[in-house]
Amino acid sequence: MPVNRRDFVQFAGAALVTPMVSSCGPDRRPAPGVPRSEFDGGSTAEEVTAGVDLDGKLAVVTGCTSGIGFETMRVLAKRGAYVVGTGRTLEKAQEACLRVDGVTTPLQLELSDFDSVVACADTINAMRTPIDILVCNAGMRGQERELVYGLEKHFVVNHLGHFILVYRLLERMYLAWQGRVVVVGSRAAYRSAPQDGIQFDDLQAAGGYSVSRAYAHSKLANALFSLELAKLLKGTRITSNALHPGVIDTRIARNESGLRRTAFSLYTRLAGKSVEQGAATSCYVATSPLLGSTSGRFFEDCNAVQISGDHHLYDAAMAERLWAVSEELVREYLVELKRPTWEDLGQQISRPKPRQD
Ligand SMILES: NC(=O)c1ccc[n+]([C@@H]2O[C@H](COP(=O)([O-])OP(=O)(O)OC[C@H]3O[C@@H](n4cnc5c(N)ncnc54)[C@H](OP(=O)(O)O)[C@@H]3O)[C@@H](O)[C@H]2O)c1
Repeated sequence: MPVNRRDFVQFAGAALVTPMVSSCGPDRRPAPGVPRSEFDGGSTAEEVTAGVDLDGKLAVVTGCTSGIGFETMRVLAKRGAYVVGTGRTLEKAQEACLRVDGVTTPLQLELSDFDSVVACADTINAMRTPIDILVCNAGMRGQERELVYGLEKHFVVNHLGHFILVYRLLERMYLAWQGRVVVVGSRAAYRSAPQDGIQFDDLQAAGGYSVSRAYAHSKLANALFSLELAKLLKGTRITSNALHPGVIDTRIARNESGLRRTAFSLYTRLAGKSVEQGAATSCYVATSPLLGSTSGRFFEDCNAVQISGDHHLYDAAMAERLWAVSEELVREYLVELKRPTWEDLGQQISRPKPRQD
């Protein structure tokens, strides 16, 4: 039987990149009770935000230097938001912000260094402005097992760093007309994470390590963090949702072997999304007027989805335990979580200046 070149490349690519993209898995259905959007996996971030006016709103996007984070920052700024974009170095964040039309401020944020996370949050809080949108986008996929603060590195960078950041910024989000926390997770959370979920007894991954497992474990932590945050924020005007952006040819595979990187790149070009499409779900969840009261959901292709099967994506008990364990692990970097009153904050809050153009 003749095999055409495209089919061959797609097959070979899928075989090589399966550990990275987890290409087979459970069913997904529309999540009940959430308004359906007219958008899908082919929609771009510009398309899903067309007509949305973010003038006067402050958005924070972590990992703005590359890939999905850069496109998210670009499009939110294009729609009028004042965007604080973070990079692992100030220079990289500055360079990214300079490539964007609109109002942006670069900040340094190294998620594996909790002092850097605290400093970043303090700088944003010192701006004395409500935070309308907080996109926890930055993420890494490493190679060898590494420990940071005595814990497996993916868990620290992808989960604990953002945990501290959100914790410390929450007080400012209460002041927004409607605050949104958007957590960029991955479908790896339900396809490749350990079968028994978060490894509370082995957060060092001493009992068995693979990059895919450690990455997926941290992405499950992202989803559960968002779920528990949504529960804690019930009755407030702040929402929290997690999402899978799609499979996109970004720098996320930079630590893979040359062969796997090439295969990933080929595969994503044939069967994945462009970066413009990859940022669409983040931008949709961050801005859609349809989602003002939607919280605790998992989104894919610009819609909330219900994923069937044996996984822990919606495991409320595990989410609650993860929150408590995370608090214990990073207690010295946290502040008291309280809903501020206007008196607490005094008269110091100001809104970003409207654009003059
Ligand atoms: N691309 C995909 O197929 C895919 C699929 C599912 C989920 N995701 C998720 O999408 C998000 C964005 O990834 P991407 O695909 O756009 O990859 P990317 O191009 O590698 O961008 C990742 C961003 O995170 C930053 N980052 C990495 N390690 C960091 C650290 N220790 N502290 C602070 N920032 C750090 C990077 O900064 P530097 O450039 O300075 O390293 C970069 O700005 C990630 O959370 C990823 O897990 C991606």
